[in-house]
Amino acid sequence: MANAAETIEFREIAHPAPASDEVRSAVLANPGFGTQFTDHMVSIEWAESEGWHNATVGPLQPIPLHPASAVLHYAQEIFEGLKAYRHPDGSTALFRPEANARRFNDSADRLAMPNLPENLFIAAIEALLAKDGAWIPEGAGASLYLRPFMFADEVFLGVRPAKRYRFVVIASPAGNYFKSGAPAVSIWVSSDYTRAAPGGTGAAKCGGNYASSLVPQAEAIERGFDQVVFLDAVEKKWVEELGGMNIFFVFDDGKVITPELTGTILPGITRNSLIALLREEGLDVVEGRYSIEQWEADAKSGKLVECFACGTAAVVTPVGRVAGRDLDFTIGSGGPGQITGKVKATLTAIQRGEMADTHGWVRRLG
Ligand code: PLP
Ligand code: COI
Repeated sequence: MANAAETIEFREIAHPAPASDEVRSAVLANPGFGTQFTDHMVSIEWAESEGWHNATVGPLQPIPLHPASAVLHYAQEIFEGLKAYRHPDGSTALFRPEANARRFNDSADRLAMPNLPENLFIAAIEALLAKDGAWIPEGAGASLYLRPFMFADEVFLGVRPAKRYRFVVIASPAGNYFKSGAPAVSIWVSSDYTRAAPGGTGAAKCGGNYASSLVPQAEAIERGFDQVVFLDAVEKKWVEELGGMNIFFVFDDGKVITPELTGTILPGITRNSLIALLREEGLDVVEGRYSIEQWEADAKSGKLVECFACGTAAVVTPVGRVAGRDLDFTIGSGGPGQITGKVKATLTAIQRGEMADTHGWVRRLG
């Protein structure tokens, strides 16, 4: 929905007590994932009568919500995840933020929420980084994880699209997503639960998808695995994706398969980037269907040489072991493979400004 928001100005609210250099340095030295936050946040409101308005960049603080706010009852909430990097020349860079802005609006469409102009999505992130640029960690593999999200805050218990929303961006210094730091992760194939059915919200980045993944994810952890992998909801046969990552299979003949976008899988921006990079390496990347039986057979015969998961938070993570009810197998050596390592190195070098960006993926800020 185009409106005056294209030219919106961010009102600055002074922070009464930003973190000291010592506190910030201690956080940046050991950021972990998702537990530490920067000083500021951006907030923009939407109302049916006014469109996007009241854009602010100010102190990170709790958001008061009326108990009847629609999001608390019917889960009208969507989010994005992208990272800011400190480049060797000192500049700040984002990786494909336009793609996140587009996907955010695709998610908004599916959840009957208003669109946010793409330039406003990016301007909001830039406004936050202008305040919190000093929070970008510089260590190997570290970055500032940005979390734009939108939720319905109309006070109304009727079931229909809300008439009021708030868009917020927060930022969290991030290191490795997987705590174990193991060279490869293990994944559990869920046979009792599915993530998304045809016609559902699987392709949208909405909080509800993650809520329903928590029980199967907990089941994986309980059994000693790092992540859950979901099969399709209809035949319980085709590999779809992990709870928060897409998946790739690398074969001994130079072929690579990644599950096709059927509407039940999140169209990952890392996935899309890796398809391009792998093709440039001369690999034959197919977006297609791959069954769990074939996965086991190919791993056991040695035809499948590598497998990796990918996403903004997880970057590129080798998958070593796969198990489920009645199956348990190892892929290749069970550790990181050569192609996985190469493509991860290329992607992260582009993101971090250590390799030429020939795709126009990197957006440099001042
Ligand atoms: N699939 C799911 C369910 C996710 O949550 C994510 C993470 O955002 C991805 C895939 C990977 O998407 P992207 O590469 O855009 O981060
Ligand atoms: C991301 O990679 O940005 C995600 O949203 C995945 C989530 C599991 C942290």
